[in-house]
Amino acid sequence: MPAAVIDGKEIAANLRARIGTGVADLQATHNLTPGLAVVLVGEDPASQVYVRNKGIATKAAGMTSFEYRLDKDVSEADLLAKVNELNEDDAVHGILVQFPVPPQISQQTIIETILSSKDVDGLNPINAGLLASGLDALTPCTPQGSVILAKQTLGNLEGLHAVIVGRSNIVGKPVAQLLLQENCTVTMAHSRTRDLAGLCKTADILVAAVGIPEMIKADWVKPGACVIDVGINRIDASERGEGKTRLVGDVDFEAVAEIAGHITPVPGGVGPMTIACLLKNTLDAACAQAGIEKINL
Ligand code: GUN
Repeated sequence: MPAAVIDGKEIAANLRARIGTGVADLQATHNLTPGLAVVLVGEDPASQVYVRNKGIATKAAGMTSFEYRLDKDVSEADLLAKVNELNEDDAVHGILVQFPVPPQISQQTIIETILSSKDVDGLNPINAGLLASGLDALTPCTPQGSVILAKQTLGNLEGLHAVIVGRSNIVGKPVAQLLLQENCTVTMAHSRTRDLAGLCKTADILVAAVGIPEMIKADWVKPGACVIDVGINRIDASERGEGKTRLVGDVDFEAVAEIAGHITPVPGGVGPMTIACLLKNTLDAACAQAGIEKINL
């Protein structure tokens, strides 16, 4: 396997340690403890694990964790009332409603109800607009984490051709904005892109965020490219004798690792960075709400 595997766990642990130091400084200098509220609706098993892990990481960084679990049948009005209560609570600096939400609730309405100053997901149109304008914003966590991994791996990204496969508001679009800020030449690809494989093969940085298991094949990748796999897909593993299911990304890891220069694994790549960036956003949000300059990590 010629590609170096990018250790997201290690890079995230280092970032979380620096955030913990920042939180301790904020407490010492301003008597301020950042607080993150996470709301889970229903009992989706994967979401339960994500929410539990967020709570553990929040407390480990010295922040206050608020967790709310609402019934899967909760009305949109009741969920919005909870969000509004958190918007008004001075101990809560960041709010995250775990997605997906049940069908009676509009994800977009939730996103637009969370105050932009507490929107640690970075999904509110105000934050998306600030990011697109190159202004100070709370930026989505997975894209932030993906770009940190690329920068720590490659150093200066200036002039590199980044191809992003996937155009979602949560990953593809913000990754494009963040890579533009790093002076990459950015191409957005999606399900209607012609000759997707040929386009991917021109990428120095290839970001896979499509949600299709192992879609990116070895002959789609330029030798030596940096491949960032944002996908998390659970697939059947019985034919491999590895238990019932296993997690894979959007990249055919074993084959692509023979071609790429650097590659993120799934799990253990982008995933751990997402939580670290959520904590960073919560720290930044707490500083901004208190009128304190952002802490350099
Ligand atoms: N579910 C999966 N990814 C995300 C995310 O980035 N934010 C929220 N709120 N829910 C998610």
